[in-house]
Amino acid sequence: MYFSAVHELLRWIEGLPPSQRDAAVEAELGIGAADPAPPGAELIGYHPSGVDAILRALREAPVTGDDVLVDLGAGLGKVLLLARMLTGARVRGIEIQPSLVERARATAERLGVEIEIEVGDALTAPLEGTVFFLYLPFTGETMKRVLARLSEVPHRIVVCALGVDLVAPWLRARQTDSFWLTIYDDIRPRTRE
Ligand SMILES: C[S@@+](CC[C@H](N)C(=O)[O-])C[C@H]1O[C@@H](n2cnc3c(N)ncnc32)[C@H](O)[C@@H]1O
Repeated sequence: MYFSAVHELLRWIEGLPPSQRDAAVEAELGIGAADPAPPGAELIGYHPSGVDAILRALREAPVTGDDVLVDLGAGLGKVLLLARMLTGARVRGIEIQPSLVERARATAERLGVEIEIEVGDALTAPLEGTVFFLYLPFTGETMKRVLARLSEVPHRIVVCALGVDLVAPWLRARQTDSFWLTIYDDIRPRTRE
């Protein structure tokens, strides 16, 4: 996408009254609603991230065209679509509910935006990326096990967590004034790289 198109998209989003941004962006992208029922024990159902939190994560991580952003529990692809359109990063989603994956793919195809999204469980799917995004997809032991898997990614990563505090000795939370979003740096010893 050309710089001017990115700039225009951002200007349009930021020109909307904050209370109308999510509805307007979802309508423009054609992202509908979905059943929020939890898909399993310790798993959280579909709720889309807020646009403001997504923009902040993209800026502050920061996500660039050289990154591979992975949304764990990607839902209808709102994060993937905006990340791809605004940064040019390669974007990948892992989502446990097949119907959501089908819909996210259809949306991306209609918009002509390149996203990769697979049906999978974050407990077992390949975790290949530089920036990981989690909007409270799971809790408890599932979250612990996924964090343990992320600690095995063979290079440094950044983790953006929305609506959830992550506790792991290898992650250091950046200071923030955001209630919802925390960005974590990977502080594993550099000898691992
Ligand atoms: C709160 S929604 C976030 C959706 C999307 N990331 C966003 O921010 O718009 C959490 C999503 O995680 C998915 N999910 C829950 N457990 C999962 C798991 N173990 N593996 C993959 N996806 C999972 C749910 O189906 C749901 O779509």
